[in-house]
Amino acid sequence: MIVLKSKREIENMKEAGRLLASVHKEIAKMIKPGVSSWDIEVFVNEFLEKHGATPEQKGYKGYKYAICASINDEICHGFPRKTALKDGDIVTIDMVVNLNGSLADSAWSYGVGEISELNKKLLDVTKTALYKGIEQAVPGNRIGDIGHAIQTYVEAEGFSVVREFIGHGIGPSIHEKPDVPHFGLPGKGPRIKEGMVFTIEPMVNVGKYLSKMDPNGWTARTIDGKNSAQYEHTLAVTKEGTLILTDQDDLD
Ligand code: MF3
Ligand code: CO
Repeated sequence: MIVLKSKREIENMKEAGRLLASVHKEIAKMIKPGVSSWDIEVFVNEFLEKHGATPEQKGYKGYKYAICASINDEICHGFPRKTALKDGDIVTIDMVVNLNGSLADSAWSYGVGEISELNKKLLDVTKTALYKGIEQAVPGNRIGDIGHAIQTYVEAEGFSVVREFIGHGIGPSIHEKPDVPHFGLPGKGPRIKEGMVFTIEPMVNVGKYLSKMDPNGWTARTIDGKNSAQYEHTLAVTKEGTLILTDQDDLD
């Protein structure tokens, strides 16, 4: 069942989203060779505490950290670790912020130091794919229109879209209905309505879309060892249009 959110609930999630957007802006300044994803984990815990918020991922289904930090061929759910990031790496930082019981979810990929042209294209295509999906997230469209727009664009650029991990409704808990795949057919899936709040979070691979699971039971990586990137926003469909609750540009 898709639970629609009230104006008040969306306002509160927007506050959580603004805080999360500001965390990503700080992370962008931190990322450079020599810094570790563990440094980012420590920073996020401290920053959220200072702002009266908590990291919702910590303790979720036994996950132990505030952030997921997925490096190079890791698709998602990488653990933060003390190994330094290296020049040329790409890293996706994903987190869910809980501010007074309201959640927001956003992932962002970052290049470390000087990255290759291929990595630049991967980041660019993945971010553009997110916004192509967001354009389709309007009342009257169907959820399948989002995935179709993303998949068509990404494959035309020569990359592939991960199937195993998808966007999701979000509310009092991290994962709610509807499921939001980043691939599929137009005109399929639930109709998009005012009051829906969900994420769009395409994971895009340079090579094959298939993934394999690490022995830690969490981290998914590409089967061919090629890189993967991800951008994610939390969106609210309202009378005033579709709001990007985790928009970083709002903060300027
Ligand atoms: N932020 C993730 C998402 O986009 C959820 C991570 S699940 C966790 O769906 F367990 F790793 F926290
Ligand atoms: Co996320």
